[in-house]
Amino acid sequence: MQRIGFHERDYDAATLLKLEIFRGYVREWLPVFLSKKQFEQVHIYDFFAGPGMDAAGNPGSPLVILNELRPYLSVSSDSQNCAIPVHVHFNDVDPDKINALEALVDRRLADLRCKVEYSRKPFSEAFEDNLTLIQDRHTANLVIIDQCGIKEVNESIFRLLIQCSTTDLLFFISSSIIRRFITEGSIQQYFPIAEETMRGVKSKHIHRYICHEYYRKQIPHDCDYFVAPFSIEKDAGANIYGVIFGSSVLLGLEKFLEVCWRQDTVTGEANYSIDDDLIGYGYLPLLPEDRDAKKLDVFRQDVIAFIGDCSPDNRAIYRFTLESGFLPKHTTAILRELQGQDVLLVTDLESGKNARKNSFYLAWKYYKSSSPRVRLSYKTAGLNETSGKSHNEQS
Ligand SMILES: C[S@@+](CC[C@H](N)C(=O)[O-])C[C@H]1O[C@@H](n2cnc3c(N)ncnc32)[C@H](O)[C@@H]1O
Repeated sequence: MQRIGFHERDYDAATLLKLEIFRGYVREWLPVFLSKKQFEQVHIYDFFAGPGMDAAGNPGSPLVILNELRPYLSVSSDSQNCAIPVHVHFNDVDPDKINALEALVDRRLADLRCKVEYSRKPFSEAFEDNLTLIQDRHTANLVIIDQCGIKEVNESIFRLLIQCSTTDLLFFISSSIIRRFITEGSIQQYFPIAEETMRGVKSKHIHRYICHEYYRKQIPHDCDYFVAPFSIEKDAGANIYGVIFGSSVLLGLEKFLEVCWRQDTVTGEANYSIDDDLIGYGYLPLLPEDRDAKKLDVFRQDVIAFIGDCSPDNRAIYRFTLESGFLPKHTTAILRELQGQDVLLVTDLESGKNARKNSFYLAWKYYKSSSPRVRLSYKTAGLNETSGKSHNEQS
């Protein structure tokens, strides 16, 4: 029996969600690099491009990218002021798919003022061909690796990518395959994780685990590089896939997390109840203790402990927030609550006096300035008993 290829069917819901996350990030990424002439060139690499659409005509990753570029680069658009050269690179090992893509782009997007390059090579070769350009300090890059399976973003490719300056990374990975076949040599050669350890990882946590415990641990201690996962369930939970994002810039992480929190308002990281929360995902919790997301409750405790442990300034708590997978708005709500309970001291570092109420300066523009604005600490001996408890415990 002949297998029906990926693009000869309609994309399923999981694939459409993955593409929506790609689209969301491209949309956030483009203005950062196209609105100011910070870099000589902007490059977007789609190394597993496919023919451009599925059987139903839904746009695949190449059309997602080009459609997002249209407002900046269309000859007919009003905003023709983007003077930065944009290069888009599409690769696929299957020449028929790239031929189909090339014809499609010529037909539909010939009016875009960007250079589109096509290659028909296995990923490892296409990556090697472009590595010098990706490493060039004068280019800003977005690399999309929409592989089938698990093996392409191996340890050496990941280490090369995280050392490239101004290169954000989005890759897809079929994480549950790693858990299911962890004892097999074909998996162990890419993910040398002990069977014992893997048995302790819940199936619904596998993508989060691979991101945090495998990829994040590849990052050298002296290297600022940030990763974040978005888990995607398919086949009623039988398979967990996901996107992994990487960037050396916290603004990139913030933008990715914004995209994720728009998709999942409970944990910002999955299309299912990853922490067994009863809130959201179509459930209506009856008990008050089920009305808060567990992850947010844990984060609240973490923020409280972080302030007690190190009296952080606004830059440190901004970074702590994003590295924990949350957005500044989540931390701001917690800090406001602590301020409302009159336990939090927010000191303006310039005047040495109390800062204005609700002024926490949790934003990229304050992070990137070299001098912090405020410092957070607790009044008197420490946090009062009730502040450390969750809403549920207090009610
Ligand atoms: C999951 S599909 C990606 C689809 C595409 N990004 C889209 O949105 O439609 C994977 C694609 O990778 C291609 N592919 C498989 N192995 C490859 C390899 N080693 N190097 C490059 N492309 C490969 C396949 O031909 C297929 O088109």
